[in-house]
Amino acid sequence: MPATRLDGKKIASEIRSEVAADVETFVSGGNHPPQLAAVLVGEDPASQVYVRNKERACAKAGIASRLDRMPAATTQAELLAKVAELNSDPAVSGILVQLPLPSKANGGTGIDERAVLDAIDPIKDVDAFSPVNVGLLMQGRPRFLPCTPHGIVQLLHRTGIETSGKHVVVVGRSDIVGKPMAMMLAQKDSTCGPAVANATVTIAHSRTSNLTEICRQADILIAAVGRPEMITADMIQPGAVVIDVGINRVEDKLVGDVAFDEAEAVASAITPVPGGVGPLTIAMLLHNTLMAAKMQAAGK
Ligand code: GUN
Repeated sequence: MPATRLDGKKIASEIRSEVAADVETFVSGGNHPPQLAAVLVGEDPASQVYVRNKERACAKAGIASRLDRMPAATTQAELLAKVAELNSDPAVSGILVQLPLPSKANGGTGIDERAVLDAIDPIKDVDAFSPVNVGLLMQGRPRFLPCTPHGIVQLLHRTGIETSGKHVVVVGRSDIVGKPMAMMLAQKDSTCGPAVANATVTIAHSRTSNLTEICRQADILIAAVGRPEMITADMIQPGAVVIDVGINRVEDKLVGDVAFDEAEAVASAITPVPGGVGPLTIAMLLHNTLMAAKMQAAGK
């Protein structure tokens, strides 16, 4: 029997409706609408699409948004000045500096990405990339959760998949997905309760020597490497749940990190690309922006 397709688009839409209802309650309580400030440096086409999608999603949820476009030639000092301006603007609830910043090959000035992310006020850090928010997550007392892994926790919960006591293999160790995903599932609890936590987690990566063998031990396999279709059917334990975080453009087609057609025949449940994990990232960004506005209104 082919795997159940986990419909991330539908779940993201549920979450977005819930956030919209919460925003309405927040505003009717006498608060200004939450506002997301996005900063886009340069002209990267994929980033332009992401930022436009984020603006649209904000509007639908009743969240205000502003977009500060800066040329590729922006210097680190100029970008840090922009972040400082947004940090001190009381109308701005959340700040998102779209990544990647332009490389020197793309007309950039060699901005140190880490220095910019470190400069964002942790209380406005809706991406949860700041060391303060990463540290709080590591210690099991998270404030903001990074959007993609948090979206995956929501997806698992809302499709009735538990991770407690299971072996989860995360392929990929990025700061945006792999590392925080592993940390979240290894914790004792989650925003969806202990059933979607308490996993035994293995982090695999490009230097893992016996990758196929390790992946085959996974009850839940999470692929977040950014390499098109690298997870093949032989790497999947029959009946495993497969979560594909990859969004790779190959000859004008979007494909994940999992070879979908063959994986679907082996797994019990799988996320498609597109329409799986992707839509949840934006839904959780809206959630974080509202959370930021609530914390700031409460003077925290
Ligand atoms: N570029 C790709 N994904 C993301 C993300 O989640 N946040 C930011 N700021 N940039 C990104």
